Amino acid sequence: MRLLVVGAGSTGGYFGGRLAAAGRDVTFLVRPARAAKLRETGLRIVSPHGDATLAPKVVTPDALAETYDAVLLTVKAYQLAAAMEDFAPAIGPDGMILPVLNGMRHMELLAQRFSPGNVVGCALKVSTTLDEDGRVVQLSPMQELAYGELDSALTPRMRALDEFMQAAAIGARLSSAIRREMWEKWTLLAALGAINCLMRGAIGEIEACPGGAAFALQLLGEVVAIVAAVGVAPSDGFLAGARAVLTEKGSPLASSMYRDLQGGKPIEAEAIVGDMLRRGAKAGINAPLLSAAYVCLSVYRSRIDAGR
Ligand SMILES: NC(=O)c1ccc[n+]([C@@H]2O[C@H](COP(=O)([O-])OP(=O)(O)OC[C@H]3O[C@@H](n4cnc5c(N)ncnc54)[C@H](OP(=O)(O)O)[C@@H]3O)[C@@H](O)[C@H]2O)c1
Repeated sequence: MRLLVVGAGSTGGYFGGRLAAAGRDVTFLVRPARAAKLRETGLRIVSPHGDATLAPKVVTPDALAETYDAVLLTVKAYQLAAAMEDFAPAIGPDGMILPVLNGMRHMELLAQRFSPGNVVGCALKVSTTLDEDGRVVQLSPMQELAYGELDSALTPRMRALDEFMQAAAIGARLSSAIRREMWEKWTLLAALGAINCLMRGAIGEIEACPGGAAFALQLLGEVVAIVAAVGVAPSDGFLAGARAVLTEKGSPLASSMYRDLQGGKPIEAEAIVGDMLRRGAKAGINAPLLSAAYVCLSVYRSRIDAGR
């Protein structure tokens, strides 16, 4: 199997790098500036699971001519439209696209641009970032890459993908309920991102304020009501865990969207909060706290767009 990793940023660099280091056939599709950096320094991973430096196989969009068995898509939501055009030559009739993006909108866009049969489910749990020198830094030991056919079928291509992924210790896991896992992940991220960004604090800071825990639970309740109406309702076990995580005393937990917002960087607010809210509105669900978070994020985004 040959894998094309689209983007050698924090997630693509980490998972693709680990698979390449384990001897798998991995090529990175990168834009010219990242290609130049990788040629100069190699792909460098700094991680609690061990550091690594490797010379990755890279291709730039202008030189991409052949198809691959699978594409691990690791761009940000706001980079998706351009990326789809760039990696299109890599997708043949049976090619699999595994997107690590959050939310569900990208699944629809990929199915429209390619074919529904090209898109497989994927849910990623990890905390990685790129440092100022372009190194991939894994911020905590947590790592889990779940994947599966959207209809849960155990197809030959999915078995082959799983065999490929098992070469490296990256928490790779074939899931028989990937659609539910993706909705659950989005539920938690939408709630966490909205809670952090609206209140400008980590979970423990918010919990410590009068009404903080009740606010967090109310916001989670709004997201769960939307997801139950338009997606796949979360399991009881997941919900109990989400309630505990979002109200944990002293927790430093904050979403990467909140970290990006604090750092003045672009955010994935549309994919994580805006799209959830629009789906809820279509289903007639009232979500006042989530709406307030979206307004707050949209004000920030318009400042970023205006360069302020
Ligand atoms: N980081 C995490 O811990 C984490 C965890 C779970 C899920 N996710 C999700 O994973 C996705 C990726 O996040 P990330 O942290 O890996 O972002 P990232 O570090 O910003 O990496 C994205 C990479 O994609 C590259 N890229 C964008 N458009 C491209 C194109 N057309 N062709 C080739 N490369 C392209 C960018 O390269 P340039 O330098 O050329 O811009 C950048 O290096 C996001 O949707 C995020 O929400 C992240």
